[in-house]
Amino acid sequence: MKARGQKIVALTAYDATLARVLDEGGVDVILVGDSLGMVVQGQATTLPVTVDDMIYHARCVARGAKHALLIADLPFMSYASPMQAAENAARLIREGGVQMVKLEGGRKRAEVVRFLVAQNIPVCGHLGLLPQSIHQLGAYQVQGKDEQSANILLEDALILQDAGASLLVVECVPAILAKELSCALTIATIGIGAGVDCDGQVLVSYDMLGISLGATRPRFSKNFLTGAADIPTAIKAYADAVRGGQFPAAEHSF
Ligand code: KIV
Repeated sequence: MKARGQKIVALTAYDATLARVLDEGGVDVILVGDSLGMVVQGQATTLPVTVDDMIYHARCVARGAKHALLIADLPFMSYASPMQAAENAARLIREGGVQMVKLEGGRKRAEVVRFLVAQNIPVCGHLGLLPQSIHQLGAYQVQGKDEQSANILLEDALILQDAGASLLVVECVPAILAKELSCALTIATIGIGAGVDCDGQVLVSYDMLGISLGATRPRFSKNFLTGAADIPTAIKAYADAVRGGQFPAAEHSF
């Protein structure tokens, strides 16, 4: 799709019914994100989510989706070594029914990515804001704002690609940096809070349906249910806006 200049439409799902609606709405990629810890379980962070939690929700999603590529997150501390990562990724594929696993981090994860790919497990990287590192980061905020951290991010992206990653989620980075990353890589970037020039976009489905827990919707998200008659119409509006390059607009970007 990147080679053809077609934008990739991605959303999160955690259950069979929403997965079916996304699938029938032509969403290309369904991510069973560890964001389920926050939006489904009501936890303050994604850190308490376990591999068993991920498998349960992945299996539900896999029952509802027929066409979309299914990706599941390897949760916090489930990929500290190549072997641990391979065992947990195999469970997500075998028991959860997904086709790709996602993990957070750059060069520190290269060995794990390389090992998974050598076991024929497709991997999606995740750079920028890394929710599993929240205690190190201290806050959920935009990453790669200065030249040094932007260069590190760019290098990390190339290292992940070189290690064999098939896709890269880029979360909360300046739009200009995400554009540079997307041009530098041959693999596709899927942005969230990373501007319109990524090769695709992902949002947490609860955010784009306006039902997230907590006071405010993140700046990079948009409530597509506003003005839509129902959820399938909102999903279609999101997919059309991503494919048409209307979402994210400048007001959703950094
Ligand atoms: O867990 C998740 O839903 C994610 C997206 C925010 C990209 O990683």
